[in-house]
Formats: sequence, structure tokens, C-alpha cells
Amino acid sequence: MHVVILDSPAEVGDFAAQEILRGVAAGKLRTLGVATGSSPLAIYEVLERHRSPQLSALQAFALDEYVGLDPQHPESYASVIRREVTERLGLDPANVHVPNGTAADLAAACADFEAAIRAAGGIDLQILGIGRNGHIGFNEPTSSLASRTRVKTLMSATRRDNARFFADASQVPALCLTQGLGTIGEARKVLLVAQGKAKARAVADAVEGPLSSMCPASVLQMHPHATFVLDPDAAAELKLQDYYREVRSGMDTLR
Ligand code: F6R
Repeated sequence: MHVVILDSPAEVGDFAAQEILRGVAAGKLRTLGVATGSSPLAIYEVLERHRSPQLSALQAFALDEYVGLDPQHPESYASVIRREVTERLGLDPANVHVPNGTAADLAAACADFEAAIRAAGGIDLQILGIGRNGHIGFNEPTSSLASRTRVKTLMSATRRDNARFFADASQVPALCLTQGLGTIGEARKVLLVAQGKAKARAVADAVEGPLSSMCPASVLQMHPHATFVLDPDAAAELKLQDYYREVRSGMDTLR
């Protein structure tokens, strides 16, 4: 696991975007896993400024979607991904996949989503944020470390955190579809971005705590190419900050 501590939230977005742009330019990144929420927005901003035919040819897979929210609802992840990713990066909507949270058969929708990832040859790079409780995607604490895309119940703390996107917390759906931890773990590379003090505990648990479903992001300790890209506030509770800086000063790139 690599830990990259940068000086500001803007640098976090820029660093992650440059890694993606390098992969695209090298022809190694054709399938991008995309997250919603605040954390990746700076990445999408930088990518938009560097739009190219290769970037716009990407296939994209969302991490998750609310159950029961009309895809046209402005806060459905189908809408958020359309606004923040598909339109800004100039992707072909046919190449952008979001689990169908309004399907009559949700289990079949999850299986279809997994099949679409397989048909695309897997995800080359997955962007992740992290919840204050250590969730990635919507894999809440005690999610199976081997889980696949499925229905999950959101914790009330997560619904409160996401209430800022809705009129109030009661409008945040209670259920979601999310890529499982096993699904996320199959991405060839993972870039987790975190900014701000509110994420410091979850980041420290994920990087330096035990491998445990109590902190779902700790599953990334098992991933051969996972990088945490952090601002100083998100890194504040890491015990080995000096070591991560020393490691970085000895290498210019991620590989
Ligand atoms: C979003 C997702 C979540 C968020 C996490 C952090 O698709 O799956 O895991 O990444 O809740 O959200 P923000 O970035 O809004 O703090």
C-alpha cells in the first residue's frame, strides 16, 4: 500500500488526476471506476481540463446507487455521475454503467452490473472516497471482505452525512446497491482520496489498523496496487507519517 501525503486538497485531486491521465495516455487505462460524493470532485475538474479523445473513450463504472430513487432525481448516482463525470469528461453515455436501483429484481440488477464489469475486461483503476466509518462504496462496517455487488442497508450515520445533498436526512434512501469489497478488490489499481479532519480516524484505521470488516477500507491492505492520496488533515492520525514521506521522497511515481 502506498500512502501519499500532499499539502492541500487541490493537490490531492491533481495528483490522482495526473495518475489517471498517465494511464490513459499509456493505453493502460480503459476502464475507470468512479465514485460520487465530495472527495473525487477535484479529480473530475482536472480531468475535464485535460479532455482528449482517449479520455472520452473510457468506459466508467459507478461504485453504488440508492435503491428506489428515480434515475432522473438530481441526487441519484445516475444523475450525479452524468453531471460530474459523463458530461465533464465527454464520455459516451452508453459506456457509463451505474447499478439499477429501481429494478424490480435488485439481485438480478447486481448480477448484471458484475457481468458488465467482466465484459469490459475488469476495472483498470478504481477511484474511491472513504466514509467516516471506514466504508468504501457503501460497504458499511461488518460487510464481508469477499462481498460482491449487492443490496446494503445504509447506517444512519451515513444517511446523516449524505443529508447535505437532500432537503433532510429522512429523504436519503435507506437502501443502496454497492460494488462489494471483493468486487472493488479486483480493480487492477485503486486510488483512495481523502481530505479533511473528519476522515483522519477512518484513514488511520484503514492503513495502520487491523484487517477487519469493522473498517471496510482496511481490505485495501490486501491489494497489490492501492494508493491512499491524502491532505495533511486526513493524514493527521497516521502514526508513520514521516515514513510515508521518506518513501515518497525516494520515488517520483506510483509504480
Ligand atoms: C460514493 C461512495 C462513498 C463515498 C464516501 C465519502 O460513491 O461510494 O463511499 O466515497 O461516503 O463521501 P464524501 O466524498 O462525500 O465524503
